[in-house]
Formats: sequence, structure tokens, C-alpha cells
Amino acid sequence: MSDSVKPLYSEAEIGERIIAMAKDIAKSGKKEMVVVSLLKGSFIFTADLVRALSDCGVRLQVEFLGLSSYGNSTQSSKKVSIVQDMKTEIVGKDVIIMDDILDTGRTLHFASNLLRDRGAKSISVAVMLEKPGKRVVSIDADYIGFTIPDRFVVGYGLDYAGFYRELPFIGVLQQH
Ligand code: XMP
Repeated sequence: MSDSVKPLYSEAEIGERIIAMAKDIAKSGKKEMVVVSLLKGSFIFTADLVRALSDCGVRLQVEFLGLSSYGNSTQSSKKVSIVQDMKTEIVGKDVIIMDDILDTGRTLHFASNLLRDRGAKSISVAVMLEKPGKRVVSIDADYIGFTIPDRFVVGYGLDYAGFYRELPFIGVLQQH
């Protein structure tokens, strides 16, 4: 079996959305925030969005949180756990979580509860992609790059079996 990737959003389209998202986030009026980037899939999205936010005059600290979903075959039994924790103190701080894709919502729900329990003053959520109608837990993103159909996508940080993260565009994985 061989794979190919059918482009969905080009590098230029992504770049435009990143600038628009940064402007929206800056409109919140928060001058300083702690970014919590969820590994691994969000590393490219985060790199682009933090630089766009800097252009909008927002001062940032950047942290990385590694979460993994595990469990047996049934989706509803999946649990999220911390595989790499962050170091920055977030008590009383305005936090923005950056994630690659909002699908069932389990990952963001877990991250958001964790950061609230750790004393964040406010928590907002920015995702590059969201798949609507897939939520098994109730969570919404405040800032969304693109809403996509329920297809498996790769590129721009997203992988299939560890590959394709480096692609500058987002595409649908096709297996032949
Ligand atoms: P939940 O279900 O917790 O999942 O919202 C978010 C995580 O699921 C992975 N995911 C994908 N990864 N292409 C990918 O490469 C996809 O189409 C896709 N859909 C979900 C991803 O790790 C994300 O952080």
C-alpha cells in the first residue's frame, strides 16, 4: 500500500489564517499570555502563531505539554495522560492553549481542566483545525483556523505514523 497527500490548504492560505487569528486573539486586549502548546502536532502551528502574535504586540511565554491518548479499541474508554509536563508557573496568568486539531475534544478538555486546576486566571483555546460533529466531550475552541470534513489530514505538524509533519501545507491522506 502506498500513501499520497491531496492538498487541502496551501502554505499561503494557512499563512493568511494565522495572521487573521493573531489579530482576533490580540483583540481580547490581553497584553501578556502563557502559550501552552500541545505536543507533538502543534509545534509548527505554535511557531507561526506566536510570531504573528508578537507582530500584534502581545508578549508571550511559551510552554509545551505532551499529552497522549490511550485505551483499548472503544473510543469512549480512551484516557488522556501527561507524557511531558511543563515548567512555567501559571497561577493567576492568562493562558492560551494551542492545539493542532479538535476532534473528539478529549485532549483539549483534559488540558483545559488541568490548567484550571493549576490556577490559571483565564484559559482560551486556539486550534488550527476542527472537525465538527465529532465531539464526545463538550469543549469549544475560541479561535479556529479551518473547519474541515471528517477526513484524516496530515502536514503542518500533523502526522501519519510519525511522517508528514514537515509538509508546509495541510492535506488529506490517501491510501492506495
Ligand atoms: P481529540 O480527539 O482528543 O484529538 O480532540 C485530538 C488529537 O487527535 C489527533 N487527530 C488527528 N491527527 N490527523 C492527524 O494527524 C487527523 O485527521 C486527526 N484527527 C485527530 C491529533 O493528535 C489531535 O491532537
